[in-house]
Amino acid sequence: MKKLFTGLQPSGDLHIGNYFGALKPAIDLAKQYDSMICVVDLHALTTVKNGDDLRKNTISVTKDFIAAGLDPEKTIIFQQSQVQEHTELAWIFECLVSVPFLMQAHAYKDKVAKGIEASAGLFNYPMLMAADILLYETDIVPVGADQRQHVEYAREAAAKFNNAYGQTFKEAEERILESVAVVPGTDGKKMSKSYGNTIPLFGTKDEIAKSVMSIMTDSAGERPAFVYAMHLLFKTKEELEPLYEAYRGKYKALKDALVEDIDAAISPMREKRDSISDADVIRILKVGSEQARERAQAKMKEVRQKIGLSL
Ligand code: ADP
Ligand code: TRP
Repeated sequence: MKKLFTGLQPSGDLHIGNYFGALKPAIDLAKQYDSMICVVDLHALTTVKNGDDLRKNTISVTKDFIAAGLDPEKTIIFQQSQVQEHTELAWIFECLVSVPFLMQAHAYKDKVAKGIEASAGLFNYPMLMAADILLYETDIVPVGADQRQHVEYAREAAAKFNNAYGQTFKEAEERILESVAVVPGTDGKKMSKSYGNTIPLFGTKDEIAKSVMSIMTDSAGERPAFVYAMHLLFKTKEELEPLYEAYRGKYKALKDALVEDIDAAISPMREKRDSISDADVIRILKVGSEQARERAQAKMKEVRQKIGLSL
């Protein structure tokens, strides 16, 4: 069975754009592979500087994924920092690649431009990510388009190592997630936490209603375009046609219908999420980390032998 690996930074609450654009496609894909999902808490240290926040986010993002349909019985879900082979292999790769090579990373430049501290950790970030991917004989890495170059870096690290020490690492391929186009936010622009135009994925019905009521409506047509675009994520065109015919020009009624449809889709996930305790998550991550460690240790034994660390 082919292997899938992906990593998620434990940062912030998810919105329905994240769900349709990244979460759902990754979870659907994970079902078809021997898959591993890693909560990359060490990567998050580049931006999260408070221990309680990091702990809370690590538990929260794991709950989100399980509530959205990821099955911990079938997918190894684990915490990066609990498998120390990741940092060891990252160091080894850092000794193989050059500073000018790492300086070409778009993500690094973008983050520094946004005001994130240019720490040595942020600079070396792609080599830790390469270690994540390459430790596990990964075939495919589902990621958003912004991570394409990082997966190329992982291939480059594999090639450099294989060249120096003989065939050891498989060159993994990125699988760029085909999002449901771009999920629009309440102002019609791309839904994004940085624009404050989101509908929360695990929000209460009241929170959903509040966001939906704030969707901007254009008075030109008889059909509110942004409401309709969002509605299409939850119902087919055929299902929506009679509704939008019956309520021509009645924006409030259409928004009420959208609230009901979003809530109907989300409430089972919200209930599932509420039923998962912190202790459940800690247990799942512990078991997952043990399984990952076993695989990582086998690989590192081979690596240490080849590079001359084991005598
Ligand atoms: P945000 O823009 O809210 O900061 P992130 O950059 O953290 O979201 O995105 C996480 C994932 O969710 C990425 O894979 C991204 O492609 C996807 N995503 C975010 N917003 C949307 C959207 N409006 N439509 C589709 N996919 C999205
Ligand atoms: N850099 C990725 C992001 O910001 C997270 C990540 C870390 C990752 N390690 C990974 C993704 C390994 C895929 C595979 O989204």
